[in-house]
Amino acid sequence: MRYLPINNNLFIENRKRFVELLPKDSVAIFYSNDKMPRNGDQYFQFRQQSDFFYLTGINQEKSILLIVTDIRNKKLKETLFLLKTNEQIAIWEGHKYTKKEAKEISGIDHVYWIDDYDLSLKEVMSSVKNIFLNRNEYPKFFPDVKERNHRLGEELKGAFPLHYYHRSSPLLTQLRLIKSDAEIALIRKACNITNKAFRRVLNTTKPGKFEFDIQAEIDHEFTVNRANGHGYAPIIASGKNACVLHYTDNNKESKDGDLILFDFGAEYANYTADMSRTIPVNGKFTSRQKDCYNAVLRVFKKAKKLYVPGNSINNINDKVNKLMEKEMIKLGLFTKEDVKNQDKENPLFKKYFMHGTAHFLGLDVHDVGDKDEVFKSGMVLTCEPGLYIPEENIGIRIENDILITKNSPIDLMEDIPVEIDDIEKLMI
Ligand code: GLY
Ligand code: MN
Ligand code: MN
Repeated sequence: MRYLPINNNLFIENRKRFVELLPKDSVAIFYSNDKMPRNGDQYFQFRQQSDFFYLTGINQEKSILLIVTDIRNKKLKETLFLLKTNEQIAIWEGHKYTKKEAKEISGIDHVYWIDDYDLSLKEVMSSVKNIFLNRNEYPKFFPDVKERNHRLGEELKGAFPLHYYHRSSPLLTQLRLIKSDAEIALIRKACNITNKAFRRVLNTTKPGKFEFDIQAEIDHEFTVNRANGHGYAPIIASGKNACVLHYTDNNKESKDGDLILFDFGAEYANYTADMSRTIPVNGKFTSRQKDCYNAVLRVFKKAKKLYVPGNSINNINDKVNKLMEKEMIKLGLFTKEDVKNQDKENPLFKKYFMHGTAHFLGLDVHDVGDKDEVFKSGMVLTCEPGLYIPEENIGIRIENDILITKNSPIDLMEDIPVEIDDIEKLMI
């Protein structure tokens, strides 16, 4: 991996807090992600299953973690099983973890080769009643491809049908929502790399550059700063492309007079930043672009203050929608009268601001946690109001990552230029 070593205390503490949530006579089984096949003999770049990383720090396929609450054989209380490397793998794929390395990274004392797994599993199964299996339970996300946790979990249920099965996901959600100091430091690092990349973008964006030329500047800055890459597909959207919320083609020429909307975030040690900025391609906002930009910026500044313990995403969405509605009236997009007469099920502001303002952030860009989760100190969320007016070729989003604390919210991206004056100065 490119990132610098992480103190294994992070993973030791995570497992400790997880096991405390299990009832007695339980085992929790976690499978690593697959190496996803691409085509021919190629694979997509490997990315560890986020919960697996959270509990182990291990970035390798075909790994299994067992956490048992109580078992006579202490060597099976907390065990990691790894792909046993051989000469062929070493020659063709390169280095795989040794047991010693895996022990150092994860803090797990008992690391075995995967060949020993079946026997160990049988011993564990004979001494527990409850089996906790893990799944990606992201709401309304049902991909066609079954993840490894899903497939191997089904196999396990076939082999041991009479145990009691439970879900690990709600327990991990509870834990992952509150970021430890070590995790916050990693997210800060991801934000700092993202800052560097944005400043490079400000330096290099010019009319006539293609969106992919600008992406290359971001990719460069990420790579030389030890990021794994992007935490999600980056959006580099000039002109009306900015009104396509998930535009990722990034293949058009940026034109004089247009705005360009960026939404990108570096992934460092599997933790991601999530930033959006909007700048004028030629370095100077027009008067109308300024008005629209400042409308979003005013809402962004007010919205940031709402990231306090006791609040929730649903509540922030409602408040920000109202603020954006007022700004839209000032911008002449519709009138107060129109709002009074609008269809309540389909309010007018939705035509120009159709996404939510916040989501949790961490190991995943859309991290675990529901919209009605009550904010607590240690949670990290995005703040991302936007305004999209396709008929005027204007799409604006401003997005920073905010840490909830018991005092005031901490903006982890406060050093990333956002004021019109700063952006224009840096673009000269
Ligand atoms: N970059 C994805 C999002 O802002 O939610
Ligand atoms: Mn976001
Ligand atoms: Mn974003």
